[in-house]
Amino acid sequence: MKVIVAKTAGFCFGVKRAVDKVYQQINDSNGEKIYTYGPIIHNEEVVKDLEKKGVEIINSKEELKNIKSGTIVIRSHGVDKEVYDIAHANGLKIEDATCPFVLKIHKIVEKEKNNGRHIVIIGNKDHPEVQGIRGWSGDDTTIIGDEEEARKFELKDGSKICIVSQTTFNYNKFKYLVEIISKKRYDINVLDTICNATHERQSEAKEIAANVDSMIVIGGKKSSNTQKLYEICSKECKNTYYIQTLEDMDLCELQSSSCVGITAGASTPNNIIEEVHTNVRKF
Ligand code: F3S
Repeated sequence: MKVIVAKTAGFCFGVKRAVDKVYQQINDSNGEKIYTYGPIIHNEEVVKDLEKKGVEIINSKEELKNIKSGTIVIRSHGVDKEVYDIAHANGLKIEDATCPFVLKIHKIVEKEKNNGRHIVIIGNKDHPEVQGIRGWSGDDTTIIGDEEEARKFELKDGSKICIVSQTTFNYNKFKYLVEIISKKRYDINVLDTICNATHERQSEAKEIAANVDSMIVIGGKKSSNTQKLYEICSKECKNTYYIQTLEDMDLCELQSSSCVGITAGASTPNNIIEEVHTNVRKF
């Protein structure tokens, strides 16, 4: 049986880097306490494993204020400036795993805010990444997530604005919302800050699924990016299976397939992908 594993399966560069940093801290800690600001990744297996190794999750600034020693790891989504300020004031060691693509947005909005531009963040206002960016762009900021908000957005004619995007926002929707805002009479600076890791993963999955007899999509049942991958692959290949781990798969179902494809969502660790790959190949 031929098995094709997507190159983009699993963690994106930023998430991998963040998870690696926590494990590295565990190795180097000399018994010092390690914290992550929010779960490092939305994957129960990884979070449980880190907990077993003594890593604790800090969920708010209030909790952080009570921590007076140890290392705090900032996850790939990034945080606002106040989190760094609290950690510094409490003498904590900061291990910054903010994805460089997100850091770039923090720098852009800080600079453009200082240039007197009103900042528009296109994204989901409840997402931690957007809240982090918001913390660098100051009070003169608007978050726009849909068409209605874009249409309602209003400043004085000729106002200077700078538009950035959440890294995982849908590109076509971003373009559409920018178009709506561009029709108003502002002096606009648009910076497309969407990261194409998600787009690349989806197009590779689609291509593989179109050329195999069976397709396996690995990821958490609640993971929206895995659900999307499943949807995309199902359209191309009718024998598409959605599993969380190897245990969910009855390998006998692959009996009549001569070529099997495997992909995985952004929060699926490599060892789970490897385990599925090895067993499908052996089968
Ligand atoms: Fe991942 Fe960083 Fe892009 S966290 S999705 S590589 S912005």
